[in-house]
Amino acid sequence: MSAQFRGTRPVAAGLAAAGAAPTIRPMTVFDLDAVLSIEQRAYSFPWSRGNFIDSLASGYGAWVLETSRPAESPRPVTAEPPRLLGYYLAMPGVEELHLLNITVAPDCQGQGHGRWMLGHLQQQAVAQSAPTLWLEVRAHNLRAQALYLRCGFETVGRRKAYYPAGQGQREDALVMRKALAQAVDPAVEGSA
Ligand SMILES: CC(C)(COP(=O)(O)OP(=O)(O)OC[C@H]1O[C@@H](n2cnc3c(N)ncnc32)[C@H](O)[C@@H]1OP(=O)(O)O)[C@@H](O)C(=O)NCCC(=O)NCCS
Repeated sequence: MSAQFRGTRPVAAGLAAAGAAPTIRPMTVFDLDAVLSIEQRAYSFPWSRGNFIDSLASGYGAWVLETSRPAESPRPVTAEPPRLLGYYLAMPGVEELHLLNITVAPDCQGQGHGRWMLGHLQQQAVAQSAPTLWLEVRAHNLRAQALYLRCGFETVGRRKAYYPAGQGQREDALVMRKALAQAVDPAVEGSA
């Protein structure tokens, strides 16, 4: 993993309002059991452990969002360990980042975590002088498309029969792109 993906930081204050502030940090192989547990619940065609290991070994940007305690509140001995809320992985290219996977745990969806992680991705892209973001999304995944459109992506193409769809069927992918003009603040992107 490249040096610029190191470090942790608290997530937007809006997300922390309900209690412990989520934190984003680089994914490691030690996260993979929890990551795969979410992946297998979130998708009909989940990534394999090997897909994640290959991405980590390739040095792609890989981040996990997890619960944590506010810094000013010492963790009691009986406190639960941090719990994974979601994750994303992005492959660097020439002046671009390609979002490969973004997932929020099914029981934590609809709380702004996906939007916040997209804001973080955009901040990473700006920091790496990668002004264009790319992604593919299943043509029937309207919820994810709504998130991407909400975050300023536009649909620029369609890949026919790109994804497996079961029973020998295939599903098209929409290709979406966002051109980044300036620095992105995840706290702003992640706010409602
Ligand atoms: C897609 C996904 C990452 C979105 O994350 P999330 O944390 O649930 O989304 P957020 O709470 O940040 O919502 C952001 C936007 O997504 C859209 N959205 C969220 N929940 C939605 C729902 N139930 N129906 C329609 N749109 C929805 C809205 O545009 C929303 O913006 P708004 O709150 O201003 O209306 C998450 O639902 C997920 O992991 N889904 C399964 C895996 C997946 O499909 N990943 C994407 C693969 S391309």
